[in-house]
Amino acid sequence: MDWDGMIREELGTLVPYAPGLREEQVRERSGRDDICKLSSNESPFGPFPAAIAAMERELVGLNRYPEGASIALRERLAAIHNVPVSQILVGSGSNELLRLVAQTVLRPGDEVVYAWPSFVVYPMATTMFGGVHVRVPLDESETHDLDAMLAAITDRTRIVFLCNPNNPTGTYYSTDAFDRFLERLPEHVLLVLDEAYFEFVTAEDYPNGMDYFDGSRPIVVLRTFSKIYSLAGIRVGYGFAPEPLVHAVDCIREPFNVNSVAQAGALASLDDGVEVIRRRAENQEQKTYLYSGFDRLGISWVPSETNFVWIKTERPVEVFEALLEQGVIVRGFGATPALRVGIGTAEDSRRTIEAFAAAVARLGRI
Ligand SMILES: Cc1ncc(COP(=O)(O)O)c(C=O)c1O
Repeated sequence: MDWDGMIREELGTLVPYAPGLREEQVRERSGRDDICKLSSNESPFGPFPAAIAAMERELVGLNRYPEGASIALRERLAAIHNVPVSQILVGSGSNELLRLVAQTVLRPGDEVVYAWPSFVVYPMATTMFGGVHVRVPLDESETHDLDAMLAAITDRTRIVFLCNPNNPTGTYYSTDAFDRFLERLPEHVLLVLDEAYFEFVTAEDYPNGMDYFDGSRPIVVLRTFSKIYSLAGIRVGYGFAPEPLVHAVDCIREPFNVNSVAQAGALASLDDGVEVIRRRAENQEQKTYLYSGFDRLGISWVPSETNFVWIKTERPVEVFEALLEQGVIVRGFGATPALRVGIGTAEDSRRTIEAFAAAVARLGRI
């Protein structure tokens, strides 16, 4: 059988998404039980108590299909954000929404502009639907270079992905920079604002995508329940888009793309604004602790508006392995001279700095 002839040629360059190492794998490798998993930008805490209760209540009804369009969740999001229900997207993680939005608009040969390094799903979605990659390097402060991204736009550009704050660097572009960008952005481009880490942001000059969304401009804003809401395992994300785009996504998504437990968990999470504030503050406290620990060890770090910190190292592979031996899992990006360190509990932070200290002691300056 000629599988190369059977499978679409452009998919040949893709590799499956590589998630961070799992705790069990590291337990086996390091022989340690006390693993700190800081590799996937997850919350170290469980789902909100009200979400757990709501999800448990759903279990007995799992013989039935979910409500197909996640209507109650869409209605609640619409009310919170003061937009019509017809402009709400709900998906199996914002990952699915990134892919679906690309699928609705990309034709083979269309150009897709995105920063690099940034979230790996942008290049994956581009390749999947025959798009042409236009990668714009982050600037020297590891931030989106919005001027360079504008300069990269042509008549053939279909999508611009902006990740704010950016994964994996944790950096953000300011309201001023974004205003200048938006003023000059041509109308034929669909702007996808990926705000997966929105709730962790404390910077005052961060541009909230929803302040720019009016339901008619070609702007999509994507958010998720996977991060501050601690629902990564159940897969639910949401977003806002002009009605024709939401309609197109509804036509091509799976009929029951968000399961009933996920819908219930997400809905209940939205009722607990106090918990969001508490978790953001906790994240901020641990981030400050990590910054000062890195400073003491002479490790250079990039200020983050997220639940992870991008540290610079010329020896990423050796440092990654040294941390792993201490039971601390971070995320490496091949030869990129940096590592992404997730923010966990106070105990995770203590262990992280201890593990970095051991790595410095062993390797010298890292
Ligand atoms: C920037 C960014 N966007 C989107 C996602 C997807 O999140 P989910 O599919 O869990 O909503 C992630 C996950 O790590 C991310 O970092």
